[in-house]
Amino acid sequence: MRWGWIVLPLALAACVEKEKVPTGAEDFASFCSACHGLSGKGDGAMAAELGRKPANLTQLSAKNGGAFPGTRVMAKIWGYTGVAPGRQDSASPMPEFGPLLQGDLVPYDGGDGIATPTPVRLVQIAEYLKSLQK
Ligand code: HEC
Repeated sequence: MRWGWIVLPLALAACVEKEKVPTGAEDFASFCSACHGLSGKGDGAMAAELGRKPANLTQLSAKNGGAFPGTRVMAKIWGYTGVAPGRQDSASPMPEFGPLLQGDLVPYDGGDGIATPTPVRLVQIAEYLKSLQK
């Protein structure tokens, strides 16, 4: 029985370690800012070399009548990962982001009232983009 005192803290430590998911801001900096810029305005270092101009991600709501187009944004981000059926846009230079699919699935309602089980890191990025809206 005494072993419990040793095993329990170890198990808790392992749990905390596993739960350490990067924030939306961190994932945006790692996976998106090269093109979209840290501010999301589309002025990343790679932007000039692309055939298509990276979208200004601070204007998504403004261009959508003031409402954050969460469902469209999620389809776009998830589409990049290459796994959302029928979502791939072959004309887009956006790469695939496999690591962002790891982790838990959480319900995401992008504004259409339908909550879809969605990888948590994609949801965090969408929430982060929402916070960037001007
Ligand atoms: C290799 C460069 C590149 C990277 C990396 C990149 N993007 Fe993009 N992104 C683009 C380009 C170019 C466009 C405009 C063409 C298009 O819509 O595909 C775009 C468009 C978008 C749009 C559509 C905006 C609209 O008006 O609907 C969203 C949302 C977006 N990107 C989010 C992201 C997020 C989030 C990440 C990181 C997970 C990311 N992008 C990484 C180049 C990139």
